[in-house]
Amino acid sequence: MNTYEGRWQTVTVEVEGGIAWVTLNRPEKRNAMSPTLNREMRDVLETVEQDGDARVLVLTGAGTAWTAGMDLKEYFREVDAGPEILQERIRRDASEWQWKLLRLYSKPTIAMVNGWCFGGGFSPLVACDLAIAADEAVFGLSEINWGIPPGNLVSKAMADTVGHREALYYIMSGKTFDGRKAAEMGLVNRSVPLAQLREAVLELAGELLDKNPVVLRAAKNGFKRCRELTWEQNEDYLYAKLDQAQLRDPEHGREQGLKQFLDEKSIKPGLEAYRR
Ligand code: COA
Repeated sequence: MNTYEGRWQTVTVEVEGGIAWVTLNRPEKRNAMSPTLNREMRDVLETVEQDGDARVLVLTGAGTAWTAGMDLKEYFREVDAGPEILQERIRRDASEWQWKLLRLYSKPTIAMVNGWCFGGGFSPLVACDLAIAADEAVFGLSEINWGIPPGNLVSKAMADTVGHREALYYIMSGKTFDGRKAAEMGLVNRSVPLAQLREAVLELAGELLDKNPVVLRAAKNGFKRCRELTWEQNEDYLYAKLDQAQLRDPEHGREQGLKQFLDEKSIKPGLEAYRR
């Protein structure tokens, strides 16, 4: 087990059984995302990406919060008081990990939403490939409640996951909703009682650990590009990714799969994965 103990002030990372448990760790501030946390998370994601023992990343929070969103004191008020140009760097650090790195991350990612999830937290939530929430988790687009429209890429995150009416209702009302509702809206894959959350995430991570990592990366990142490209561009892009995956795949999964189905007749790919 690699714990990276003491390496970061605001985040802990434990790698065990192929899973990197990345925990936002400012429980006394409900894991609000401060400039320090944003800078550290950038380093965390780059470090975990290169860690050969980490094959699935789980993003969670310490204490009662997943994250209470951007840090209203350190990310807003204190930056307002500083030089104008500082805002550029502070915003860039936030975007860099919250969606740029995370959205097309080279390893599968799961958001494990254990509690409060507000405002700016929606960007990393949606940037994670999959998400499981506690039934008891409380979500809210609280920006309207303190006088701003949703910041960073929060509205884009909503537009990519949730239907038009639901998204606008929560953006405009600032009302909260729970994990069950988040699942019903498609913001997370499913919700389970908090007591079963870790077990549910372990099970999902286990499924991902069984898959060919090179093909998995091409599959998830290929899908994420689909919304932004035209049909013609998608055709070129997705075939390029498909060919790239085949070229880079050290275990030659495609050949294995074809052989096991067509020659050995030992699997039915509609119902099960090829044996690795
Ligand atoms: N930014 C900065 N500090 C925050 C914070 C945030 N987003 N969320 C919580 N904190 C701080 C509080 O100021 C408090 O600090 P203090 O102990 O020094 O006074 C501490 O975390 C605990 O917060 P508290 O409000 O007492 O916790 P709670 O469990 O009763 O309530 C929340 C939790 C999340 C409902 C509440 O803290 C809250 O509404 N936070 C703001 C959510 C928000 O609008 N986020 C911004 C989105 S962009």
